[in-house]
Amino acid sequence: MSKVKLERDGVIATVTINNPPVNALSAAVRSGILESVSAAIGDPEIKAIVLACAGRTFIAGADITEFGKPPMPPSHNDLLAAIENSPKPLIAAIHGNAFGGGLELALACHFRVATKDAKFAMPEVKLGLIGGTQRLPRAVGPELAIKMIVGGEPISAAEALNSGLIDEIVEDPVSGGGAFAHKALVEKRGLRKLRDDDSKLAAARVDRSIFTTAVAAMTKKARGLQAPFAAAHAISYAIDLPFDQGIKKEGEDCMKLLASEQSKAQRYAFFAERQAGKIPDVPENTPLRAVKRVGILGAGTMGGGIAMNFVNAGIPVTIVEIKEEALSRGLTTIKSNYGRTVARGKLTAEQVDQRMSLLRGALQLSDLKDCDLVIEAVFERMDIKKSVFEKLDAVCKAGAILATNTSGLNIDEIASVTKRPQDVIGLHFFSPANIMKLVEVIRTDQTAKDVIATAMKLSKQIGKVPVLAGVCPGFIGNRILAKRWREANQMVLEGARLWDVDRALFNFGFPMGPFQMSDLAGLDIGWVKEESQSSTLLEVLCERGRLGQKSGAGYYDYDESRNPKPSPVTEKIIGEFMASLGKTARQISEEEILERCLYPMINEGAKILEEGKAIRASDIDVVWVNGYGWPVYRGGPMYYADQIGLDKVLAKMKEYQTTLGDDFKPAALLEKLVSDGMTFGDFEPRPRQPEPT
Ligand code: NAI
Repeated sequence: MSKVKLERDGVIATVTINNPPVNALSAAVRSGILESVSAAIGDPEIKAIVLACAGRTFIAGADITEFGKPPMPPSHNDLLAAIENSPKPLIAAIHGNAFGGGLELALACHFRVATKDAKFAMPEVKLGLIGGTQRLPRAVGPELAIKMIVGGEPISAAEALNSGLIDEIVEDPVSGGGAFAHKALVEKRGLRKLRDDDSKLAAARVDRSIFTTAVAAMTKKARGLQAPFAAAHAISYAIDLPFDQGIKKEGEDCMKLLASEQSKAQRYAFFAERQAGKIPDVPENTPLRAVKRVGILGAGTMGGGIAMNFVNAGIPVTIVEIKEEALSRGLTTIKSNYGRTVARGKLTAEQVDQRMSLLRGALQLSDLKDCDLVIEAVFERMDIKKSVFEKLDAVCKAGAILATNTSGLNIDEIASVTKRPQDVIGLHFFSPANIMKLVEVIRTDQTAKDVIATAMKLSKQIGKVPVLAGVCPGFIGNRILAKRWREANQMVLEGARLWDVDRALFNFGFPMGPFQMSDLAGLDIGWVKEESQSSTLLEVLCERGRLGQKSGAGYYDYDESRNPKPSPVTEKIIGEFMASLGKTARQISEEEILERCLYPMINEGAKILEEGKAIRASDIDVVWVNGYGWPVYRGGPMYYADQIGLDKVLAKMKEYQTTLGDDFKPAALLEKLVSDGMTFGDFEPRPRQPEPT
């Protein structure tokens, strides 16, 4: 069936695109639009053309499966030019998302109408690409265009109307588009071609700071990424050059980005995230359990943040604490978090009131009896978790899902104290839980499939990126992190300066290195004063009261604004500690720092895969990109290893094994992939063993 349909109603033609699920602008759709629009232009009876989409959305972007393949005619820009040059008015009638290539197509039309829930964005930058840099600044001015193109941020229909991106908000796209077309004909409105309308660029042509200030704001967090800077540069063509030159240069720049390693890695990460939702033994049509109310146990650092996710998504939450004081502290923290969001203008006070009204505090476990899902976020101790799960098992209704937010305790063991181990699952959120995207969903040997399917679906519903893992110490993320931490510490005790270790990882693209991260989290997580025996550097620092940022000093010294400074005190402590171990310092190169931090992570990833604790290598990458700050433009540790070449990683591991010992013993899977000439990307998910009967 044709993906584009042309219909006539009196003097108005409607061109409807129907390419489910998101009406991606594939080659077939492009040629279909061009044919239909040309036919409508050629039909003397037709006076105006409405361009609309069937299904749930307008064109939500280019067809990214075509990226990197030989281009098929008509080219995107040829299509846009044909639309813009139509002698008859063309009206884009938008509902759902007008994203990327879809928004560019709408911008080539002479008029745009949209339903009130429509969204507009140029998200190409998130795939390491650019788009819309010539027409969008002409439509909305450079400042908003920079926010949308450089930042990839979407805007609402109301903002689109205010900024002049659309002409009208309509109830129904097709009839509203038709009515607008009639009006344009009656009023004899001139055909507005954005390519020829530079009025909104005039101010920035006189005052360059309008451009530079907006770019500086949008690229603050773009360190290491190429596309946001390339996007800003391309927007400057709109300001400095005639349209035809600008669009040509944008195209050339985009082709360069398309071939870049960064964009390849970012597109890989995009698909990896979608792939993570596919679980071989849990089919997509697995029936879900209804989750209408969520219970949370513990209103501490994690419980409060987790609760916010659900109320943000409109799901009521009951949060239970042991003591009144802890409960009110937890609720106050949530309120002040929301207060900051209001202060930044991201939410209104009414919206916050509405969310807070979905949150109920309680002191009795029995208050959780109506919950469909309970997430436990109490202290990280097996005895406490077991006692809590025994009680939950007793009070929660049949069929309720019992989840734990443990960072690494054995969930099979926790489940074993209940009479419903099939309903027990891990939901491992990351701190701050209301912000961090990653959730590791941990299945035990007994977790029921509908519980897994529900946990994955619900995590997406609250805006998270879920990845399924099996039970093992530290699951995927922390298990790999432990290897990096071990080596980072080891190198410091061999003579590397800890700020050099941090800087090497920062330069690689992490937001911060392991020691800064530890200072931020607090060195005393898991440290018990009474049991501390000065046996590790961390213990010594804790014993001296250097607990990290919160105590003003940890690995680093901190000023009042919490800026880290290399610490002579820590340096002295390290020197003494090394002397007590009889170690002498040696120079360690940045190359060695990176290899010794990163290769054992890759090796551990291989072990996780061979044990079946992650379904596929890309799931490990999704964990590290979304939960641990691995730079997205390097894909993730497993993707990175494939780019280096597994044979090179293996050779280095063997070299370090010879000099430093069996911490560097290569995983069997790494050896096997190298001998088979395969990559992690080639590694197929292993079918899960049949469930115990
Ligand atoms: P926290 O110490 O901030 O909060 C724990 C809360 O649980 C306290 O308010 C305490 O009063 C309450 N509590 C203890 N026993 C309880 C009971 N029987 N009934 C009701 N409430 C009880 O701890 P945090 O950091 O929130 O950690 C909670 C869990 O989340 C732990 O299992 C931890 O390993 C895990 N986790 C922590 C992360 C972090 O960065 N803090 C990250 C991911 C997981």
